[in-house]
Amino acid sequence: VTEPDLVGRHVVVTAGGTREPLDPVRFLGNRSSGKQGYALARTAAARGARVTLIEGNTGLPDPAGVDVVRIGTAVQLREAVLKAAPDADVVVMAAAVADFRPETYATGKIKKRDGQEPEPIVLVRNPDILAEISADRSRPGQMIVGFAAETDDVLANGRAKLARKGCDLLVVNEVGERKTFGSEENEAVVLGADGSETPVPYGPKEALAETVWDLVVSRLG
Ligand code: PMT
Repeated sequence: VTEPDLVGRHVVVTAGGTREPLDPVRFLGNRSSGKQGYALARTAAARGARVTLIEGNTGLPDPAGVDVVRIGTAVQLREAVLKAAPDADVVVMAAAVADFRPETYATGKIKKRDGQEPEPIVLVRNPDILAEISADRSRPGQMIVGFAAETDDVLANGRAKLARKGCDLLVVNEVGERKTFGSEENEAVVLGADGSETPVPYGPKEALAETVWDLVVSRLG
């Protein structure tokens, strides 16, 4: 039985991956399908929250009863999050955000020319949205939840990331070409800024989402 324990709350969830364009044809992207973020949005709505889902490049159908905002790049994601966050009780950053983007955008398709070496792609840093909203705290009592997608030293990297980003909860999950990305299941440890560690065994992404909301509800004033 789903408890309506998020009634009266506005939650913002980001899902999917950013795409950083190189030219009209190509982009730098990542393997996020959006399934984990959509599971968070669906379960929050089922628990009674008003949900704003900011999605990047997932192609997934809009969940019922959820406001969906579409973005392409990390800079667009930042704009959408900063617009929605001041009114949110909870922000969950499940989107996979590119840390870097190409410095220049070629307005025409980049061509290969006979006998010419390929041009290197120069990257510049993208803004760190999670760190920014965690430092801002645009609303008193607001809870901010981040994710950490790691391939090595998963927990150690997760703990360092929690300290660096300054969020309240960090969901640490292992990723790989065929691990977590795109699958229906996930497995994670949710780290709290209060030192708590909640392991979530391998199971449906909905189950991890429900645990995240349980932890959020127990901490909301
Ligand atoms: O979409 P699925 O296929 O279901 O896969 C789910 C998932 C693996 C994408 C998801 O569970 C997940 O781990 N999402 C976070 C991916 C990510 O960007 O992790 P990160 O460790 O690089 O970033 C840490 C946190 O900072 C994340 O909350 C991210 O949203 C945020 N971030 C990162 C970079 C940046 N420039 N700004 C950010 O806000």
